[in-house]
Amino acid sequence: MNGNFPNRGRRRLLLGAPALLLGATVSGPVSALSSTPPQSEGPFYPRSIPSDSDADLTVFNGERAPGEVIEMVGRLFDAKGQVLSGGNIEIWHCDVNGVYAHVGQSTPPGFQGYGAVRTDGSGNYRFRTTRPGIYPGRTRHIHVKVRSADGADLTTQMYFPGEPGNERDGLLRRARDPGALIARKEAGSPPRYVFDIVLA
Ligand SMILES: [Fe+2]
Repeated sequence: MNGNFPNRGRRRLLLGAPALLLGATVSGPVSALSSTPPQSEGPFYPRSIPSDSDADLTVFNGERAPGEVIEMVGRLFDAKGQVLSGGNIEIWHCDVNGVYAHVGQSTPPGFQGYGAVRTDGSGNYRFRTTRPGIYPGRTRHIHVKVRSADGADLTTQMYFPGEPGNERDGLLRRARDPGALIARKEAGSPPRYVFDIVLA
């Protein structure tokens, strides 16, 4: 598997959504997309939201965080495949040394560690941040919490493709569909990780 879980085809489902939605012969409720699997919140969701919590996590209080700059982008959908605008997307992750910005922990100047944005009219969200480090027992990941304008919510984690630790990570292995939690990487500068989210 080359360090990756087989992607069971979230993109295929997305591409197939219009056909399913138009399927006149289907009766009863139609669920065009598989909802993104939930994951535990973990202990490091901020106890208080930092003053600087915008979509650019690479700069905090005017200082630049150490580490490789990446983008995390995606779209928010409901289970019928419709984009959700105005949804709140929060992310938090550890610094390059595997340490979270949290009570009693020390992170480098410039490390924001948490950000929040609302999805635009097409359901898009976008963060600019630094590639998280790894801490014992886990593979590389970014925590994600989502709430739609209608109040549907999800707490999950985004994983990175090609990480040797992915197959050893208990949380990822136990997910309903591990492949749906691994972002798709698009080369570029900065590298971009695409993580679409489907609310149940
Ligand atoms: Fe974590």
